[in-house]
Amino acid sequence: MPGFELWSDKERKEVNDVLETGILMRYGFDGPRKGIWKSKELEEAICKTFGSRYAQLTSSGTSALTTALSALGIGYGDEVITPTFTFVASFEAVLSVGAVPVLVDVDDTLTLDPEAVKKAITSKTKAIMPVHMCGSMADIDALAAICKEHNLIFLEDACQSIGASYKGKHVGTIGDAGTFSFDFVKTMTCAEGGVVMTNKEDVYIKCDGYTDHGHDHKGVDRGADLHPFIGYNYRISELHAAVGLAQIKRLPEFLSIQKKNHVQLKNILAQVPGISFRHIPDPAGDSCTFLSWFLPTEEITRAVVNEMKAQGIMPGNFYWYDNNWHYIRKWDHLKNSITLNALHPDLKTAVMQQANKDFSKSDAVISRCISTSISLLWTEEQIKEKGEKMVNVVKKILNSAIIPV
Ligand SMILES: Cc1ncc(COP(=O)(O)O)c(C=O)c1O
Repeated sequence: MPGFELWSDKERKEVNDVLETGILMRYGFDGPRKGIWKSKELEEAICKTFGSRYAQLTSSGTSALTTALSALGIGYGDEVITPTFTFVASFEAVLSVGAVPVLVDVDDTLTLDPEAVKKAITSKTKAIMPVHMCGSMADIDALAAICKEHNLIFLEDACQSIGASYKGKHVGTIGDAGTFSFDFVKTMTCAEGGVVMTNKEDVYIKCDGYTDHGHDHKGVDRGADLHPFIGYNYRISELHAAVGLAQIKRLPEFLSIQKKNHVQLKNILAQVPGISFRHIPDPAGDSCTFLSWFLPTEEITRAVVNEMKAQGIMPGNFYWYDNNWHYIRKWDHLKNSITLNALHPDLKTAVMQQANKDFSKSDAVISRCISTSISLLWTEEQIKEKGEKMVNVVKKILNSAIIPV
């Protein structure tokens, strides 16, 4: 997820605009900032680029999720359905508003299996939060239909899928709200930052206040602002927004290189009959950040991973099943509800129930999956060499007598 790979004078120029004025905060200081409003400009650019009516920048993707959940009225007593495969931030945000993250199986889209979602709905379910993992999208129509039928909120964690679209609409702009992360390893970066996108004015107004201690932002005197509700400080700085502003202008370039490199690598891997690929509900909308591929069994996948490590070609490839941060198998802190401060006993009990659930369907998908991160810096020659080395490893393992297919 490599916007940072193409760091340039464009980012330096935007940051310098802010450094020249010395006004690093996004609100206030109207005179000294001399017309430089990078955060506002970036929010406008986000609305225009992704087709969202409103955008509220935040300090991170995690705080964007927390903000969105709060603005959508999700809190104590509510359950939020979210996948077993995501980055820990997704369930952290749900917990941070006092709601229960109900983890549900993924299918070969690498996010929520609509059938599993249906089975997980209870009288406490308030929202469904698919995570558009690794650059591609959930089965949005199926999940949106479930939300409609059960009158549930649809919140898209699109933190990893900037630039992906589904049936012509950008992911993150389709549900009641959606979020992007602009951390350092995302398709476009602010160094640290995030955004909540929504088409609902009331949700946006709540996000706007919530991220700035509840300020209503109605006047020019911050001290005179009213505080209609309690908020927090999830503000982005002007320096971070400046980086994002340069990057969003370059996003079409990033995406087109990413797609070209993805196609070339996929064509090479597709020559091996034992390799299959992630199901992408709208292939034209894949942002191509990763190429996610499957092998026939966990045993074969592990053998391929081990051989890739032995040959020094594993960097840039992710075997999520063994990863501490992205799959439930290694989330012991969640399963044991280990927090620094006391949770409400009901919440603690509900969280710990995740430990007793059967996630064998997720295991069957994630244990066979390897995701290859697509670099913007690769040359055609490098992709060819990389792909051929990967193919040779897979063929070697598939052909080995020890592990027949
Ligand atoms: C799916 C997902 N959600 C949320 C986040 C949180 O974003 P941030 O790192 O900006 O807090 C991430 C970050 O990697 C993510 O991958």
